[in-house]
Amino acid sequence: MSRRPMMAGNWKMNNTYGEAVVLAQEISNRYEPRWSDRMDVVVCPPYIDLKPVSTVLEFDKSHIAVGAQNVYWEASGAYTGEISVPMLKEVGCTYCIVGHSERRGLFGETNEDVNRKVKALIGGGISPIICVGESLAVREEGTTDEFVCAQVKAAFAGLADHQAAKCVVAYEPIWAIGTGRTATPEQAEAVCAAIRATVAEMFGDQVAENMRVLYGGSMNPGNVEGLMAQPNIDGGLIGGAALKADSFEQLVKACF
Ligand code: 13P
Repeated sequence: MSRRPMMAGNWKMNNTYGEAVVLAQEISNRYEPRWSDRMDVVVCPPYIDLKPVSTVLEFDKSHIAVGAQNVYWEASGAYTGEISVPMLKEVGCTYCIVGHSERRGLFGETNEDVNRKVKALIGGGISPIICVGESLAVREEGTTDEFVCAQVKAAFAGLADHQAAKCVVAYEPIWAIGTGRTATPEQAEAVCAAIRATVAEMFGDQVAENMRVLYGGSMNPGNVEGLMAQPNIDGGLIGGAALKADSFEQLVKACF
């Protein structure tokens, strides 16, 4: 595979400051230079843990990137409770998850919000990890590809080719998140291929060929190999299995 694999841990709302330092240190202790030679490893802790986690990784010279789980599109101002792109940048973030289904479903984030966040991130030099994925109802209705590809089109709307090229897409079927029910490699591959085809329609074959498309949803050391063997799956966005250094290490090693 010519694309550089990526394994990203989404810690969600887990780990206090102290716990985050311990987990970052445990992951850092397992780091080997071949990780960063061959792939991108990313950890996405809660906002308040970003600085301590990036400090641990920098101190150890572990080339593991740090990402946020969300962002607001304005750079500064009267937006109580929000965090901006320049704030993320200064604490060492190089990636940021946007449009996670938990943000869409629990916090009302729309396709338009996702698009604004993507533009703000690219403008500020942070790579968006754009999450898309269908509910069980949509899957059972048989409209998964249309639904997911519409999310992709909305997230990328108005971008130039070179801007789109900075993005990563994560396909996360909602019914597979935190449920232990993973998409089969064939199901995941079919949607990831449709996502890549949509990117090709919008930005051409080269941008599509180079774009990383990740799978997320109950990915773990037991099912990672079948998923990673698929030609259109370039890595994982991991929830539960990223909260233990051992299982995260196994997922990283499955990308070699
Ligand atoms: P789980 O790996 O816990 O299913 O979570 C996936 C996810 O939502 C990652 O963003």
